[in-house]
Amino acid sequence: MSRADRIDLSTSVALVTGAAGGIGAAVSEELHRRGAAVVLVDLQQDRVDAVAQRLGPRRTLAIGADVTDLDAMKAAVAAAGNTFGKLNIAFANAGIASGAQAFTISSAPDGIFEKVLAVNLQGVWNTVRAALPDVLDTAGHVLLTSSTYAYVNGMVNAPYAASKAGVEAIGRALRAELAGYSATAGVLYPGWIATPIADIAFGGDPLATELVHRATPAPLRKPIQPVRVAHAVANGIVGRAPRIHVPKRWIPLSVLRGVVNPIADRALEGDPELQQRVRQIDRR
Ligand SMILES: NC(=O)c1ccc[n+]([C@@H]2O[C@H](COP(=O)([O-])OP(=O)(O)OC[C@H]3O[C@@H](n4cnc5c(N)ncnc54)[C@H](O)[C@@H]3O)[C@@H](O)[C@H]2O)c1
Repeated sequence: MSRADRIDLSTSVALVTGAAGGIGAAVSEELHRRGAAVVLVDLQQDRVDAVAQRLGPRRTLAIGADVTDLDAMKAAVAAAGNTFGKLNIAFANAGIASGAQAFTISSAPDGIFEKVLAVNLQGVWNTVRAALPDVLDTAGHVLLTSSTYAYVNGMVNAPYAASKAGVEAIGRALRAELAGYSATAGVLYPGWIATPIADIAFGGDPLATELVHRATPAPLRKPIQPVRVAHAVANGIVGRAPRIHVPKRWIPLSVLRGVVNPIADRALEGDPELQQRVRQIDRR
């Protein structure tokens, strides 16, 4: 198989991290529905067991593992190999929000930056590193979950935005590095998806909710269901897409980010209402 060939999901072995949660569970289900064997990785064994049970005993393997632990990720890849043969799809997707409340860089709790980066960036790195030997051997595809936060202003959510910009950087570098091989890599950019991670911006923290409403145009902040991400991801993996944007309405902003971002940043800086909300966040 070469990197020009589409990926046949019916003969695929896919490892998915964050598989017990919204996007990871939905993608696992979609890949499984299309015939792939799925290796479901998440922190708690009972939560991945529950997803595996829903999908049925055939072509599922549930593994409780922490993506921040490289050895655990290598062991997950080895277990997948023993059960189904080598992986050809790795979806490095596990991630966490910065917390239940928004904060600024000045008011952030000590250690939160390290915690978010450990899961969202180091965890992706670990997953990719553990899976790459198999993916190279099988001419497969690696997909890394970034976010629109990779390119929009990450005010009051800086650790998360930094982690997602980092994931994008790893994914782009990986795709270029793999160009001389038969394997490929891509980056997933979800917008607002209706999962627990997004709760903070939809009522979980009233101040953060107000800020997101003020800083994001209405059509962009309408959350979509994880199942829509799952369809886009499955299609993107089959076609070895370099970038998957869901919903697609974010594409113009991503494409025009070099032009739009300085204007948008300036608009944020010039909005006194927004500055007042930020001061309220700092005071609480
Ligand atoms: N929901 C959104 O609006 C949105 C937008 C852009 C990007 N994303 C990204 O999509 C990915 C999936 O998030 P989601 O929205 O499905 O949220 P979610 O909370 O439903 O799922 C995340 C899953 O990752 C797991 N996880 C967390 N830390 C882990 C660790 N150390 N090891 C293994 N698993 C771990 C959680 O247990 C959970 O099941 C994340 O990377 C997130 O940042 C989400």
